[in-house]
Amino acid sequence: MPLISKKQKTRVGLDVGSYAVKVVEMKDTPTGSEIVKVGLKKLLPGAIVDGEPMDRDAVISAIKEIYEEYDIVNKETSSAICGRSVIIKKIKMEEMDDETAREVMTLEAEQYVPFEKEELSVDFEILRRGMAGNTMEVLLVAAKKDKVLSHIALIKDAGLVPSAIDVDTFAVQNAFELNYEYEEGRVYALIDIGLSATNIGIVRDGIPLFNRDVPVGGETFVEGMQRKLGITSEEARAALEGVPGAKAEGVLGAIESVGEDLSIAIERSFSYLRSSGEAEMVDKIYLSGGGARITGLKAFLAEKLSIAVDMSNPLRNIQFDEEILGADPLTVAPSLMVAIGLASRQGS
Ligand SMILES: Nc1ncnc2c1ncn2[C@@H]1O[C@H](COP(=O)(O)OP(=O)(O)OP(=O)(O)O)[C@@H](O)[C@H]1O
Ligand SMILES: [Mg+2]
Repeated sequence: MPLISKKQKTRVGLDVGSYAVKVVEMKDTPTGSEIVKVGLKKLLPGAIVDGEPMDRDAVISAIKEIYEEYDIVNKETSSAICGRSVIIKKIKMEEMDDETAREVMTLEAEQYVPFEKEELSVDFEILRRGMAGNTMEVLLVAAKKDKVLSHIALIKDAGLVPSAIDVDTFAVQNAFELNYEYEEGRVYALIDIGLSATNIGIVRDGIPLFNRDVPVGGETFVEGMQRKLGITSEEARAALEGVPGAKAEGVLGAIESVGEDLSIAIERSFSYLRSSGEAEMVDKIYLSGGGARITGLKAFLAEKLSIAVDMSNPLRNIQFDEEILGADPLTVAPSLMVAIGLASRQGS
């Protein structure tokens, strides 16, 4: 028994979503990962619009309140900027070591994205080495520097220490990998449906093949239902979330008509995948995000796209105390995908 035992370090993921801010604190155990704390706070509509904080003070207060209320003491956090402020491109380049690749990428990023290099924050990951013609495949991730800086400022103003800034679509992939095994050669679409956007990430054997954010989310469903059913946004939201006593009549029809837009956007991503020669087809869709819980949506997408659709369960491989997640952990689980992915990131 050591006299002084260093308290085991936890990792914290903070997902600043436009519907709700979520925080997950995790630690490693001898048998895997364990969730220590989970905190969630809804924001008022309009606090974040298109991924941009409009009411910065409200967002900061929500973050602070979560840390206080749930007594999260580790202030080092991994968080993410949303895919809409990021350009993700796969490029082929001459084989070189990591250090040289970093220099080349930083210098040449502007050739791949429509911004000046002075305005960019660049990161990359080498996906495959030793390809034909002495080339390698690299995933370039470029964000507008001002977006990254303003995100960092927000985190700091909430009293936190930003230890890593990721992109939400990669966080979804991280959370998936923590809980599921890739079956070799199979192509998975990881689709996270939020309030204002859906992000589509297609992966095979751990390698991202395609990423896209489409501007369809829970909010689009609320607007569609208001139009179709002539109800208020509160009524539409309640119906969408299956709140007891909420309007039920005509709801499935309304969901299907907006779901159509979503399935078209997903189908477009799949055709892009085919035409770019990356993959012939997607074998399975995993849904996450609060929007994945919209009544009937999973079955609707499975039928429209003729692909197996399942809910991602980011708690599948993770230990947690029942108390932390409430009576029915699986109902909140899909919304925690990004936060869990961020908290699972090594080295943060
Ligand atoms: N039980 C539920 N049933 C149906 N829909 C739900 C349920 N709970 C939440 N939602 C919907 O999920 C959406 C929010 O999902 P989520 O928390 O993943 O969004 P977010 O990450 O905050 O938003 P974004 O990623 O777009 O910034 C909202 O549109 C909400 O109405
Ligand atoms: Mg989200």
